[in-house]
Amino acid sequence: MIKILNSTTALHNGVHMPWLGIGVFKVEEGPELVNAIKFAIKHGYRSIDTAAIYENEAGVGQAIREGIKEAGISREELFVTSKVWNSDLGYESTIAAYETSLQKLGLDYLDLYLIHWPVENKYKEAWRAMETLYKEGKVKAIGVSNFQVHHLKELMKDAEVKPMVNQVEYHPRLTQTEVQQFCQRNGIQLEAWSPLMQGQLLDHPTLLEIANKYNKTVPQIIIRWDLQNGVITIPKSTKEHRIIENSNIFDFQLTEEDMNRINGLNQNHRVGPDPDNFDF
Ligand SMILES: NC(=O)c1ccc[n+]([C@@H]2O[C@H](COP(=O)([O-])OP(=O)(O)OC[C@H]3O[C@@H](n4cnc5c(N)ncnc54)[C@H](OP(=O)(O)O)[C@@H]3O)[C@@H](O)[C@H]2O)c1
Repeated sequence: MIKILNSTTALHNGVHMPWLGIGVFKVEEGPELVNAIKFAIKHGYRSIDTAAIYENEAGVGQAIREGIKEAGISREELFVTSKVWNSDLGYESTIAAYETSLQKLGLDYLDLYLIHWPVENKYKEAWRAMETLYKEGKVKAIGVSNFQVHHLKELMKDAEVKPMVNQVEYHPRLTQTEVQQFCQRNGIQLEAWSPLMQGQLLDHPTLLEIANKYNKTVPQIIIRWDLQNGVITIPKSTKEHRIIENSNIFDFQLTEEDMNRINGLNQNHRVGPDPDNFDF
């Protein structure tokens, strides 16, 4: 059983990535953002997920500097992810976007850089830039987000470096079996975004029943389910008590039967955009 908050999994290039991190989508620059990340670091989180389009990289950087100082840890003990936005997909523009993200964050490297969305006719050129950044040692790992199996196949036709991670919408209503199996077969680590379905699963009767059985909360059951399915996850909260709650998942184990009950809730239902049909 994976027991501790900073436990990691090895990506296919040997880089270790924490199973659990904090996400900061829709958290605007300011004290709420800075405090959320500092709470997370204080309570043992070691992974932070942001993106250029969240327009909060400067605040994330400030929180990292203050958080690691207060916790007495080094930058190297953190795992920081950002993503290149659609308008910057291209060879030169992706490299420039990476430099801009680093500058805003005030960091000299990222642990993981992702292509945020698979924009047709653009993502392969951007991937060449990601490979350059990786080969030059500027980033520890590179990956993609919102890639379906056909996008991954197309990317891998010409890729020299296989993506290390695919970050997709994933929760009990959207279990992404096809993507998950493909990623597993190809050594690509799956990572869940909106793991709590943006808070819309908290009252689900099956999840509540399972939560009561283990004396846990619904978010804890879902995050534990991710972990036991081998999926990295990054629930977002700005509230200290929830940040703590979401990390208290390493002291119990769901039975196979309960795992299957949760898997069975799948309805292929998305709360976010469809990677095969988006217009941004
Ligand atoms: N790659 C992509 O395209 C993509 C897309 C979307 C998201 N993401 C990443 O994934 C992260 C997580 O996804 P998300 O933010 O969309 O949604 P989420 O993590 O599924 O849900 C966040 C919502 O749940 C609430 N919440 C969190 N913990 C809770 C708890 N223990 N009890 C009750 N409510 C709780 C939060 O409210 P409070 O803050 O008020 O606690 C917030 O409203 C994002 O922050 C981002 O980093 C990536």
